[in-house]
Amino acid sequence: MIHRSQNSNSIWQKFETSVLLPLGQDLRTDVCVVGGGIAGLTTAYLLLKNGFKVAVLEKENFALNETALTSGHLSSILDEGFAKLIHQHGLKGARLAYESHCDAIDLIEKIIAEESIACDFHRLDGYLFLDSETPSRYLENELEACQQIGLKEAYIQAAPRYFANFGPCIAFPNQAHFHPLKYMNGLLQAIQKMGGQVFGLTSAQEVVSGKKNRHVKTESGYQVHAEHIVVATNVPINDRVFVHTKESAYRSYVIGFQIPSDSFPDILMWDTASPYHYVRKVLETETKFDTLLIGGEDHRVGQEDLPEQCYEKLAEWARVRLGIQGPLSERWSGQIIEPIDGLAYIGKNPGDENVYIVCGDSGHGLTHGTIAGIIIRDLIQHIENEWIQLYDPARIHWRALPQMMQENLKSFAQYEDHLHLRKELRNEELKPGEGTLVKQGLHEVAVYCDEALQIHSFSAICPHLGGVVHWNSAEKTWDCPCHGSRFACTGEVLNGPATTPLRLTELPVQFLPQVKEDHATSRRNLAGH
Ligand code: FES
Repeated sequence: MIHRSQNSNSIWQKFETSVLLPLGQDLRTDVCVVGGGIAGLTTAYLLLKNGFKVAVLEKENFALNETALTSGHLSSILDEGFAKLIHQHGLKGARLAYESHCDAIDLIEKIIAEESIACDFHRLDGYLFLDSETPSRYLENELEACQQIGLKEAYIQAAPRYFANFGPCIAFPNQAHFHPLKYMNGLLQAIQKMGGQVFGLTSAQEVVSGKKNRHVKTESGYQVHAEHIVVATNVPINDRVFVHTKESAYRSYVIGFQIPSDSFPDILMWDTASPYHYVRKVLETETKFDTLLIGGEDHRVGQEDLPEQCYEKLAEWARVRLGIQGPLSERWSGQIIEPIDGLAYIGKNPGDENVYIVCGDSGHGLTHGTIAGIIIRDLIQHIENEWIQLYDPARIHWRALPQMMQENLKSFAQYEDHLHLRKELRNEELKPGEGTLVKQGLHEVAVYCDEALQIHSFSAICPHLGGVVHWNSAEKTWDCPCHGSRFACTGEVLNGPATTPLRLTELPVQFLPQVKEDHATSRRNLAGH
């Protein structure tokens, strides 16, 4: 069992979802989908509707994947901004991007109606506010870009009453919000009703893409043979390098406050700060309180020394800007994969036949994941769709190259940790629930002391491409700053692209960390046992 931090459960995870059983034998099917998040399940649902046999493999249970860690917003207004999208993808590309996200929300609404899924879906307005650092002409430019792509109903207005001190904003009607896990649970039931198979606790280790022998191999050694394979794992596990040079992994934080119902408007709002802030409200029908969610403070995975402060900064922003304070009722974080040009990579895996990938959600995972279902359904059936080229994973736009170089330099810089790891760390005090890195000869070792004072030690080298993992004290995880793989404090993979756990290693007695005296009643090195 993976040791997860209880600090980071989302508000949605209180909802009890169906339990998925693991795959227990080899299988043959038309389509094997790897990943049971919204992208994987929507793809499975749409293909089943079109008469395909589908099997889905999920590493854990879908209540634990990234879909469950979103804030539940459904927006057709992309974070990148339409002026930037026009610059990178041209007028037609930006228009198609906008339309695809509108269509994704419409499709979700249609599935909810057809499958009678009670998931608190409702339409509401969204507002983009200027941060104090952003020049005011940003809003005019953005509104002009909206008009150019056909988004005529956007308009600049004085802020709604609650946000009177925020200045002008752009209003975007017809956005939406829902409970992502209730929706996923309904989608799962619809899939199973149509004969689709969804397996949990089934980790895909290898995608074999040979023409005559196309299959997915699982950790338990079973094989799923399929005509088509869809890898919808947030970051692809079958592409070790190419796609990872075009996207970067970020942690994003959410806090929640209980507030009296009707004391805050039911809208989506976000600002232009970098990193940005957003606000959503979760309506509770059975109490007199709603939950206000405030999110943002994103940073590159493994590149923030004090991640707890991200929660504190959000709380401070809520106090100063919204006048909301008090104890937090929620706090969690999730992983966002930022593509270099603002749009997800969805489609044929470069160089493979009949293998498709979905990644680069860019903070719009719920709509990008739904778009993925439509694109892959059309690719498999050879149906023309203008979105196929727009979201093609093989694309490289020369206008996005500076951004690509900048992000890759940040990734490469992380490999220097091999050189800089300080020897004196070996004697650092370690409290229960803490982890640290130590140098052992030429090797870097990740050491974690659990609450029972047992020491767990691993090679600190990420099994993906050799980065050095960092200790994340807020989540109690090992995070790789290169391409965003994350591992539980006990070494198991939480987020790819890595597919295998941190390697257990023995920590020689002379390097055992000094567990703080008041707790040091027992100590045991688990490695090698
Ligand atoms: Fe690529 Fe760690 S995620 S080296």
